[in-house]
Amino acid sequence: MSTCAIPTLRLNNGVLIPQLGFGTYKLPPDQTRDLVLCAFDAGYRHVDTAQMYRNEREVGQALAASGLPRAEVFVTTKLNNAFHAHDAALAAFARSLDALGTDYVDLFLIHWPLPALGLYTQAWAALEEIAASGRARAIGVSNFQPAHLERVLETGTVVPAVNQVEAHPYLRQDEVRAFDAAHGIVTQAWSPLGRGTVLGDSVIADVAARHGVTPAQAVLRWHVQRGDVVFPKSAKPARIAENADIFGFALGEEDMAAIDGLNRDGRTGSHPDTENRTDR
Ligand SMILES: NC(=O)c1ccc[n+]([C@@H]2O[C@H](COP(=O)([O-])OP(=O)(O)OC[C@H]3O[C@@H](n4cnc5c(N)ncnc54)[C@H](OP(=O)(O)O)[C@@H]3O)[C@@H](O)[C@H]2O)c1
Repeated sequence: MSTCAIPTLRLNNGVLIPQLGFGTYKLPPDQTRDLVLCAFDAGYRHVDTAQMYRNEREVGQALAASGLPRAEVFVTTKLNNAFHAHDAALAAFARSLDALGTDYVDLFLIHWPLPALGLYTQAWAALEEIAASGRARAIGVSNFQPAHLERVLETGTVVPAVNQVEAHPYLRQDEVRAFDAAHGIVTQAWSPLGRGTVLGDSVIADVAARHGVTPAQAVLRWHVQRGDVVFPKSAKPARIAENADIFGFALGEEDMAAIDGLNRDGRTGSHPDTENRTDR
């Protein structure tokens, strides 16, 4: 169990979200349940999954096996790309609840905007209905560029609570984060460790050494001090605990500036303007 409590942020509808969660993308399927339980043991109370990850059932099994009261765990899942049409979105959400073994999620996101498909405002209308029914405590989007968010703000009635985008020291995402902040939308940083790409950086090693922490801890602390939500993934119990132990130290302004200075075109995933696959 990490020594310091995980802070929460308040979303624009008043719901509290733990600033650190556990990422579940590409966890080995036969270990997912036990690794999520391991994360609960390490103090995590927030799990990020998605229909696309095909592991909602295992996440739900961990929730059930943990014995934790449902209200103590923040669960996020995401609408898969094939289901942007209104009725398909409603049906896919119902399947998520069934797989997770819960009657509500804390946060439901549109996973990708798929601009060439052009149906994300229709999907958003379905998410608004889901939120109104009480089966999602908050709704948001993922991988939305400002132009995509503009359309949601124009056509919808609910402002997304979060925008979950790839962000790490090699992809600072200034423009998206500024747009989110200006509209009261919390930014969530996916691949907060850049899928490991940033961990060998000498600047990060220096910051980490100054604080007697690991490079991963220094990077996760940088995210938290920027005010974003993070959910590192690891399939290794020692790293799961390490990644949660980031609330007993603070980076100074110079440390933050040094990591800020690493920004480059370091995207590891698809670009939201050109990602249009519906078969994932
Ligand atoms: N919305 C989206 O489109 C989207 C896309 C991608 C990801 N996500 C979410 O974001 C979560 C995190 O992103 P991610 O899994 O892509 O990447 P990540 O968390 O940035 O990095 C995971 C990689 O770093 C390694 N790692 C983790 N902790 C470490 C540590 N303390 N020291 C050294 N290496 C460490 C892991 O290896 P080991 O497992 O071997 O430890 C794995 O290779 C996902 O699981 C998912 O929930 C969302």
